[in-house]
Order: sequence, then C-alpha cells, then structure tokens
Amino acid sequence: MKKIAVVLGTARENNFSEKVAKIVDDSLQKREIETKYVDVSDHLFGKSVSSDNEVVGKWAEIIDEVEGVIFVAPEYNHSYPGELKILIDSLYDEYKGKVAGVVSISAGQYGGVRLADKLKDLLHTVNFKLVHSEVNVSGVQKEIDEEKINKHLETLVAEMNSLV
Ligand SMILES: Cc1cc2nc3c(=O)[nH]c(=O)nc-3n(C[C@H](O)[C@H](O)[C@H](O)COP(=O)(O)O)c2cc1C
Repeated sequence: MKKIAVVLGTARENNFSEKVAKIVDDSLQKREIETKYVDVSDHLFGKSVSSDNEVVGKWAEIIDEVEGVIFVAPEYNHSYPGELKILIDSLYDEYKGKVAGVVSISAGQYGGVRLADKLKDLLHTVNFKLVHSEVNVSGVQKEIDEEKINKHLETLVAEMNSLV
C-alpha cells in the first residue's frame, strides 16, 4: 500500500481523538507509507450537497489519489459522529476498489467497539473493500499506549496490503 488517507472522524472542539489520528499518521509514515491527513472538520457541508460541490470534489480527489483509507473515529452514543457519516455519504462509486480500515476510540474501557461495528457496516455498504481486523483504543483521555496502537496497526496495514 503506497498511499493511505488518515481521516480524523470528529469535528468536536477539543476532541481527544486527534492525538490518536496523529499517532496513526506518524506510524504509517515511519513505515514509508505516504499519507494524506484529512480532518473531517475541513469537510463540513452544513447541508446535503450534490457531487459537483467543491467540498465533495476535494474529498473525491483525495479518494482518487489513495489506495486505502483509515478512519480514526470516536464512539458517540454507540455509533459514529454525524459529520463523518455525511462525508462518507457524499461519494459512492469513487470508493470502489479502495481498501478501508477502522481505528475506534473511547474514553472508557471498550475502545469504541460498537462504533467500529457500525462504521464497518457503513463502509461495506458504500463499496469499500474492508479489512477484518481493527484497532480499538480505550482510555483515550488518559495516557495512550502507543506501542499497543502500533502493534495492532501493523496487523491492520498488513491486511490492507493483502486486499490491494
Ligand atoms: C456526544 C458524545 C457521545 C459519546 N458516547 C459515547 C459512547 O457511546 N461510548 C463511549 O464509550 N464513549 C462515548 N463518549 C465519550 C468518548 O469516548 C470521549 O469523548 C472520548 O474522549 C473520545 O471522543 P473525543 O475524540 O470527542 O474526545 C461520547 C462522547 C460524546 C461527546
């Protein structure tokens, strides 16, 4: 896998997920994978828009230039943040052939596993080739276990490579 987009999937002010997204981004670069860092807050629509919209166009360009996408997202009420859903919903055919992985996050002990299930379901629906393994980050508001993230990320990336 030569180029992967790392998507921070929350626009919540002062969110804790950003530090995990940065760890993921750094870790991929250390493996000599080119990355495109995407913050969903730079892709907010406000309302549903057609595919010739400028914001959708930028997202489409990113998807076109990468082989895979890693969605890094916190669990909100057992699901994904609404802004991430709107971003994902803005394209469909463009995702065909692209590989997706999920890094889920929570402040509590479960690491956002319920979000991961629902997000994977959505990503499958919109045509991504989905990897089975996932990275679940618990206790994000405390000290983060970077070593554990890196270890699980290695498995995720290996599986992404096998699907290219
Ligand atoms: C609207 C909202 C809903 C949340 N729902 C859940 C939840 O369902 N399960 C959970 O483990 N944590 C939940 N949390 C707590 C998050 O795990 C916590 O905020 C964590 O820091 C990750 O989110 P952040 O990146 O926005 O900081 C929720 C937080 C918010 C703001």
